[in-house]
This record gives sequence, structure tokens and C-alpha cells, in this order.
Amino acid sequence: MITLKSQQEIELMRRAGKITAAARALAGEMVTPGVTTQEIDKAVFRFIKSQGATPSFLHYHGYPASVCVSVNDEIIHGIPGKRVLREGDIVSIDVGAFKDGFHGDCAATFPCGRISSEAQRLIAVTRQSFFEGLRFAREGYRVPDISRAVQTYVEQNGFSVVREYVGHGVGRAMHEDPEVPNYVESRQRPRLLRGMTIAVEPMVNAGGAGSYVLPDGWTVKTADGSLSAHYENTILITDGEPELLTLPEPGE
Ligand code: MF3
Ligand code: CO
Repeated sequence: MITLKSQQEIELMRRAGKITAAARALAGEMVTPGVTTQEIDKAVFRFIKSQGATPSFLHYHGYPASVCVSVNDEIIHGIPGKRVLREGDIVSIDVGAFKDGFHGDCAATFPCGRISSEAQRLIAVTRQSFFEGLRFAREGYRVPDISRAVQTYVEQNGFSVVREYVGHGVGRAMHEDPEVPNYVESRQRPRLLRGMTIAVEPMVNAGGAGSYVLPDGWTVKTADGSLSAHYENTILITDGEPELLTLPEPGE
């Protein structure tokens, strides 16, 4: 069931979104050589708590941390730990915050020090594919219009979109209807209506689209070992321009 949010609910979504975006920015600034992924997780946990919110991911289906930190060929759901970030890594940060009954959800991939030009291009194409999709995130279009725009842009640039994981509605639950795939296939073609809040989140591999889950039950990696990037914002559908509820900082 797709829920439409009232003005009051939208205001609460804005607050949750703002905290979530600030947590992403904080995590992104910490992406530097020598930092461990669990140091980022700890800082984000403290920040979210300091805002009177709770980390949406912590204990979600047993997930053990407040952020997902996915490095290089890890696509999503990397569990923070003792891993030390190194110059040249690309680091996907995914974070959610829950405040006054509503979730925000966002992600971005950050460079650790100097990275290869191909890695830079992957990050830029992934981010831009989100904004290509965003052009269709308004009343009058349908979910697959977003999906098509993301997929077309990614594939024109020689990369592939991950199929096994998709964007989603977000609100009182972190994952609500509708699904928002980054490719076109589904028989379902939900209409976009004002008051819908959705997370659009392209996951883009430099090589093939295939993925597999590590024995830890969470970490998703590219099947061919190629690099992967992720970019996500929670957005509000209106009758005009969509509103970014997890507004990125300049450079994100
Ligand atoms: N942020 C992810 C999403 O976009 C969900 C994270 S799964 C969790 O849907 F277990 F880490 F919470
Ligand atoms: Co999401």
C-alpha cells in the first residue's frame, strides 16, 4: 500500500531527512586514509542520538550498526568494523535516521584521498543518474519513468545498474511501497502522486550487474570484483519540482 503524507507528516519527514543528510555529510568528511569504518559508525551513532533521533538501520532485521560502509567492490550493506580505509578507496556511506515516527534514508559514495579517474567517473555517473531520474519524480509521471531515466544514463556511460536491490517508499517504515527499481521490467507501473515520499537509490557497477552476498549475511559485492557506487536521497513528490528531504551538501 502506498501512503500519501499529510502536510504535518511531511514536516516531520523534513526533520528526519535533515538529520539523515547531516549524518551522511559527517560520515563523508571522515572518509580519509587511516580511519576505520567502525570509527565512522560510532560518530554517526553519536550524532544521530544527539539530535534526539535513532539510527534507522541499527537492529533492522538484526543489522548490527548505524551505517552501512561499503568499500570498492562492495555494493551495499557493508558492516563497519576494524577495516582501515586506504588512499584510493571509494567508500559508500548509507544512513537512516528515525525521528518522531518517520525515517530519512540517504547514501553517497566518497573518495578516500586521491582515487583513479575511472573511480571518479563511476561516482559522478552514479550521482548524476539519480538526478536524471529526479526529473521524472513528479506528479503526472510513473515510477518506471524514473527507473528508465536512471538506467539509460548509467548504461550510456558504459556501467550497469544492480537489479537485486531497489529504491522504495519511505515514511513511518524505512521500506514502504512502491518499489523504485533502477531498471525497467516490472509489470507494476505506479503513478506518482503529490504527498508520496520515496527513496531513489541507484547502485551502479563499473563492470557487470551481478552481485552476491558474503557469508556475513549482509555485505553485497560485485560478482566480477569491479568497483561499485551508490547514491540515494529521500524525496517528496509534488505537483512541481520534487523536494529533496535529504538535501545533499555541496560536493555530495
Ligand atoms: N539504506 C538501505 C536502503 O536504502 C537499507 C539498509 S539495510 C540495513 O534500503 F540493514 F542496513 F538497515
Ligand atoms: Co534506501
